[in-house]
Formats: sequence, C-alpha cells, structure tokens
Amino acid sequence: MIVELLQFVLMVVRLRICPGSLKKYMRKDGENWALITGASDGIGKGISHRFAKAGLNLLIISRTESKLEALAKELTEKYKVKVEYLALDVAGNPKALDITWDFITAKVQPGDLRIAMNNVGMNMDVPAPIGQHTDDEIDRVIRVNCGYTTNMVTRFVRSYIPPKTGRYLLINMGSALGRLPTPYLAVYSASKAYINALSTAVSAEYPNLDVKAFTPFYVASPMTLTSRTNNMFISPRHFADLVVRSLNQKTVITNPHWYHALYHIMLSTLPESLRLSVTVKQMKVQQKKIIRKLKRDGRLAPQWEEKKSE
Ligand SMILES: NC(=O)c1ccc[n+]([C@@H]2O[C@H](COP(=O)([O-])OP(=O)(O)OC[C@H]3O[C@@H](n4cnc5c(N)ncnc54)[C@H](OP(=O)(O)O)[C@@H]3O)[C@@H](O)[C@H]2O)c1
Repeated sequence: MIVELLQFVLMVVRLRICPGSLKKYMRKDGENWALITGASDGIGKGISHRFAKAGLNLLIISRTESKLEALAKELTEKYKVKVEYLALDVAGNPKALDITWDFITAKVQPGDLRIAMNNVGMNMDVPAPIGQHTDDEIDRVIRVNCGYTTNMVTRFVRSYIPPKTGRYLLINMGSALGRLPTPYLAVYSASKAYINALSTAVSAEYPNLDVKAFTPFYVASPMTLTSRTNNMFISPRHFADLVVRSLNQKTVITNPHWYHALYHIMLSTLPESLRLSVTVKQMKVQQKKIIRKLKRDGRLAPQWEEKKSE
C-alpha cells in the first residue's frame, strides 16, 4: 500500500513537471503516421485530435463512414496533416484483419508507421451474470478485444518495425476492469486482463518498441452511455492528453488520471471477497440503469426486455 501510494505521488509529479511527448517516435526526415482503431468517437477521437495536433498523419478506422469522413476533414483543416480512413465493422466482418492490413499497406510504407493504437474494444451490452449473455455477445467481445488486437499487434511488429529506424510506440487499450476482476462484466474484464498481459510480455521483446496498456476506469463515451464528465468520468480529450503526458512513465500498464489511479489503489487494498460483493451490488444498480437507458433509446436487445435484476 505504501509503495503504491509513493508510486502514485511520483506519477502525478512526473505528469505535471516533466510530461512525456510523441516527439521521440517522430523522425525529422520522412513521414510520420499513426494508426488508431475505433477512432471516430470516444477515446479514439480524443486521441486522433491529440496525435494530429502533434503533427502525425493518421490512419483512422471505425464503423461509420460519415463520422470518419467528418473527422478526417476536421483534422486535415485544423492541423494540416494527412488523414486516411477505413470504414469497417471489425466485429462483424470475418475478413476484418486482412481488410485492415490491405488498407494500411496501401497507404503507408514500413518505417513510416511510427505508432499503432489498438483502441477498438467491445463491452457487454448490459452487465449481467455470465450465463445471461448470448454466445454471440461473448464471442464478439473475445474476438475484438483479444483476437483482433493480438493480430494487429503481430502484423505491426512483423511488417512495420524495421530495425535501426528509431523508436516505435504500440498502445493497447486495456481497462481498470482488467486489473480488478469484475462480476457482471466477467468476459469484458477477462479480455482486458489479457490485453494487460499481452502488452507487458511484448514490451520486453523488441528493443526499439515502447508498449503501453492504458487502464482507465471511466471515460465519457458512447460505451459508457454518457457525455457528462466529473472526476470518475473524464472527457476523451482530457484522457488523450494524459495518455501523451504519461508516455515517459516506465510502467507498461498505466492509469494516467490521478483519481482513477487513487481509486484503483483503494479498491485493490480491500479484501477480494468484500470488493466482489460490493461490485455485484453496484452492478445490479447499473444493470437497471443501462436497461432503462437502452430501452429509451430503442437499442435494447430482446433478451433484456423482460429482465429484472437478480
Ligand atoms: N469509455 C471507458 O470508460 C473505457 C474505460 C476503459 C477502457 N476503455 C476501452 O477504451 C477503448 C475505447 O473505448 P470507448 O469508450 O471510446 O469506445 P466506444 O465509445 O464504444 O467506441 C468508440 C469507437 O469505436 C468504434 N467501434 C465500436 N465498435 C466497432 C466495431 N465493431 N468495428 C469498428 N469500430 C468500432 C466506434 O465506431 P462508430 O462511431 O463508427 O460506431 C467509435 O469510433 C475500448 O477498448 C474500451 O474497452 C473504455
């Protein structure tokens, strides 16, 4: 506990006094590109703005073409960078990986893709005990969060990191729930634990590659069904800024927001059985709220229609 609190203080001081930057991944000669999946909204959109502001050209991928087109236009005009986009449902298309890499290789030369951010991720539609999720829903979460992300990592390191061409950065979006096994979101939580393990292991494999897994609690986005911000629900732009500021931290798994980091320390000091039973109570409340919200928006899947929280 004392060690964790000291690490927390050091992190906050470093973020303020000597923030990290993207400069070490950008060459003076040649083009500098970054790839961001799930870029048209939420965290990915915040990151797209932050990276473009730093002068990186962007390859952005997500589902909705109109949102990508609008974002590409906005970034190009505002930051004078090149932006190429691909509209693709990575959960629904069995050829998603090949389509992604055909797009990337058509647009960018090896050595020019300096940063890859595997941000796209799926959550359970509604928090519930594992047996209540459909096989499809569970499969989708594992396929995107674990399968697609792993394949993106392997393709990036195989084809896009020539030796002796400077430093590269790989960012995988984890979650605080990957560090704290979370009932009612068991599969999502386990998939994010996988991201943390994958990122930590790969970080020791390539000398010219920095690897980061970010593990926030809540960022206000379509996934969290809110755009309101406070200490717990931070804005995507704020989070993106913290991502860049924390790039000089030594840790692979990084929680760059002070409140989230402190909350994590607090929760991880509780006895596991107590933390789990408190989480179940919170999740039952969340479940009702989410069902009501999705119903209001006309987006509730049929299996939850008659659901009463257990
Ligand atoms: N928000 C949080 O509180 C939070 C906390 C911890 C970790 N994370 C992780 O951070 C990442 C981003 O989270 P977020 O909250 O920003 O996510 P989000 O709001 O659900 O998604 C934002 C972006 O992902 C795209 N996307 C979603 N499903 C897709 C699919 N099947 N194929 C292609 N693109 C897809 C969306 O495209 P469209 O706009 O076209 O639909 C949008 O651009 C995820 O990995 C998530 O697990 C989030």
